[in-house]
Amino acid sequence: MQRLIPVLNSDHVPLHLISVINTLLTAAKEISHRLHQGSLAGTLGSTLDENIQGETQKKLDIVSNQLIKNMLLETGLVHAVASEEEDDIVMGNPDARYLVAYDPLDGSSNIDINSSVGTIFSILQKPDHPAEGKELFLQTGDEQIAAGYILYGPSTMLVLTTGKGVRAYTLDHTVGEFLLTVDSLTIPHDTQEFAINMSNQRHWSTPMQAYIRDLLSGVDGPRGKNFNMRWNAAMVSDVHRILTRSGLFSYPADSRKPEQPCKLRLLYEANPMSFLVEQAGGRATTGYERIMSLQPTHIHQRCSVIMGSRNEVDACLEYYKSIPCERFDC
Ligand code: F6P
Ligand code: MN
Repeated sequence: MQRLIPVLNSDHVPLHLISVINTLLTAAKEISHRLHQGSLAGTLGSTLDENIQGETQKKLDIVSNQLIKNMLLETGLVHAVASEEEDDIVMGNPDARYLVAYDPLDGSSNIDINSSVGTIFSILQKPDHPAEGKELFLQTGDEQIAAGYILYGPSTMLVLTTGKGVRAYTLDHTVGEFLLTVDSLTIPHDTQEFAINMSNQRHWSTPMQAYIRDLLSGVDGPRGKNFNMRWNAAMVSDVHRILTRSGLFSYPADSRKPEQPCKLRLLYEANPMSFLVEQAGGRATTGYERIMSLQPTHIHQRCSVIMGSRNEVDACLEYYKSIPCERFDC
């Protein structure tokens, strides 16, 4: 079975970029090890702190963030990092060209129930125009040169794109390396499965309510087929299912907190996942615009997310086009 680096070499990925990806994987192996140790490693549970988003931090959120940040900065190949768990960006080597945005431990509420979590990353380059500090990261998703996630599930997997399709690798603990297990991940265009937190239904905008209502009415409704629902509550594992066997994943805007209508972050979650989904032949949209075309205005920006099987995302978009409603997303 092929190892990661020869595969990237054969795709002509620049050596320094391979080193940055490989460094992320070294951190991921350590995170994977700690997750597997569970209570034995003493890292389960929460801290008393909150992150910049006002969310309680798990001990492993902090450990994972530090591991990734320190390892990336030590390479000397990274100009700056932006993390969901850091208030501000952290500068690295002024002469280096790579920028890494990451969610160190996605779905971290799953840690204490021994369920799947993940690390999501997005790699950009220093822009050509003069930019400083946070501005460095205010690039559209289309400017990503690589993106991926590590899913810590029953096995630990890397799903990666460098803009030439999507490959999946599985961590072989016996040799400590990620081995190629799927050469080309493609999302079937049609599906009968969706993933959404249904408990927020009454807070969604009218088009999303109408779309899901029609899915739930199954074979007797306007869609004329039954739909199944799956929700793991960790974006990495919900999107991984869709990359593996089709589906539509959504975390739409809702009216629970008017000052914060969206949950998922553009730089750390929506953009890298959209890059993977589009590279696998799927679509990713807010309901109104393509996610990777959005121009970010701040690093912790959030957006509404609808992604997955192309024909199903298009079916959902028809509701947004045909049902006029007041837009309350970010
Ligand atoms: O990182 C945010 C996240 O954990 C996602 O991975 C997941 O899709 C979502 O939040 C689940 O949130 P909730 O259970 O509050 O709907
Ligand atoms: Mn997350």
